[in-house]
Amino acid sequence: HGELRGVVALDGPSGTGKSSAARRLASALGARYLDTGAMYRAVTLAVLRSGADLDDADRVAAVARDAGLAQGTDPADSTTTLRGEDVGVEIRGPEVTRAVSPVSANPAVRELLVAEQRRIVAHALSAVGGIVVEGRDIGTVVVPDAGLKVFLTADARARAHRRARQDGLESTVDAVLADVERRDAYDSSRAVSPLRPAPDAVELDTTDLDLAGVLAALLDLAAGRGLVA
Ligand code: DC
Repeated sequence: HGELRGVVALDGPSGTGKSSAARRLASALGARYLDTGAMYRAVTLAVLRSGADLDDADRVAAVARDAGLAQGTDPADSTTTLRGEDVGVEIRGPEVTRAVSPVSANPAVRELLVAEQRRIVAHALSAVGGIVVEGRDIGTVVVPDAGLKVFLTADARARAHRRARQDGLESTVDAVLADVERRDAYDSSRAVSPLRPAPDAVELDTTDLDLAGVLAALLDLAAGRGLVA
């Protein structure tokens, strides 16, 4: 496939196949991979463990600063640690998923994590030359000069099916659908860095695509931008 030169920003709501596609794209192009959602989830876990009130913005920001968060960028094994403790499994649990939207709406938390994400991106570019970054505000805020910005979408029912399958809860698609719609509405309407496509993002609807189809489309777009050497 060749090697990625520069940054691919992948944004969009959950259940669009974003994480799998980002990881596979990075692997295929010898690039690093940054899961920014994992960073918001890890800070949320630290906040839950601290017992801080989610609405206490100053306290939440202080916990975030002291969390000792480190996010790895290996697409085959992207680890998330708090003071060296691997929290990769725990941050996918329902408690964190329920609390992550309010924590990620905290402006001080976003400022802290965006600065860290920019450091990680700069480091990856100097180390291997390319990185795929996934999140909600990568094309709009974190890396506005990314060589390629893609905004993944899929209809809410397809996203709920994917999420339910991931969680092994095929029977609760309706509950997952309600949760997906609630989180989308929250993430899209928050004051700081709401979920929305950058004006120059390419929208890719994954409703009827499998992972191979999404990967093929992304590889085409990256090559078309001259990002693959
Ligand atoms: O992609 P995910 O489901 O792991 O993201 C978890 C939450 O973090 C999601 O509700 C939105 C938030 N998030 C964000 O606000 N900005 C990002 N760049 C990434 C995730």
